[in-house]
Amino acid sequence: MKILFIGDVVGSPGRNMISTYLPRLKRKYKPTFTIVNGENAASGRGITEKIYRGFLEAGAQVITMGNHTWDNREIFEFIDRAPKLVRPANFPPGTPGNGSTIVNINGVEVGVINLQGRTFLPAIDDPFTKADELIEEMRERTPVIFVDFHAETTSEKQAMGWYLDGRVTAVVGTHTHVQTADERILPGGTGYLTDVGMTGPYDGILGMEREAVIKKFLTTMPVRFEVTKGREQLSGVILTLDPKTGKATKIERIAINEDRPFYD
Ligand SMILES: [Fe+2]
Repeated sequence: MKILFIGDVVGSPGRNMISTYLPRLKRKYKPTFTIVNGENAASGRGITEKIYRGFLEAGAQVITMGNHTWDNREIFEFIDRAPKLVRPANFPPGTPGNGSTIVNINGVEVGVINLQGRTFLPAIDDPFTKADELIEEMRERTPVIFVDFHAETTSEKQAMGWYLDGRVTAVVGTHTHVQTADERILPGGTGYLTDVGMTGPYDGILGMEREAVIKKFLTTMPVRFEVTKGREQLSGVILTLDPKTGKATKIERIAINEDRPFYD
């Protein structure tokens, strides 16, 4: 069985890449389950109901989020009728929405957990103990558990990978928007990648207009970041696993851009 995960979709350039390449990726890799990180999908900040439904129609089973979960106000209206949308599970108690879900696909139950790191990000609950709690519960139903760990630092992500090794199918990182080249299967059978990278503009700075970001560094003045136009990219990962044991057997990075063209 294969799971396809697509990293942080940024604005309309990211959504374009999903409509162009998701069908082609599905033909090539034949994943039975697809997850998309959509926390930057609405103009770089949050997600709308229309975009959420668009991802499901395009063939995603679950949409994960991150620190920009609440940036588009629409989410407060639709999150309660969006069972396939998963926001970080370690947001404090009382936060709307769910931090995990289990979806049955062709008779296999796939658990998806979204967690957020605490280093250089807002202070929220401990993602490690939250993971323990959720995994214990989930493993009573299925060994197939996919974790999207939305975090800034490499060390926090590596720590989560090793901490969960052998207990989940995969720990993949999101949030930095830059793909790392350290994909591997940890000794306990957990597929790991520090960051999947982003899907959206190829020539911006983390997807945003370069001029504004550079001005911010030069002057420290407040600037408004907008999603940039131009060339586009898609970043993802494809994971092969044994649905009986939940162990990963293969992990492959996907990077599609003008320097790394896609071959069907
Ligand atoms: Fe983020």
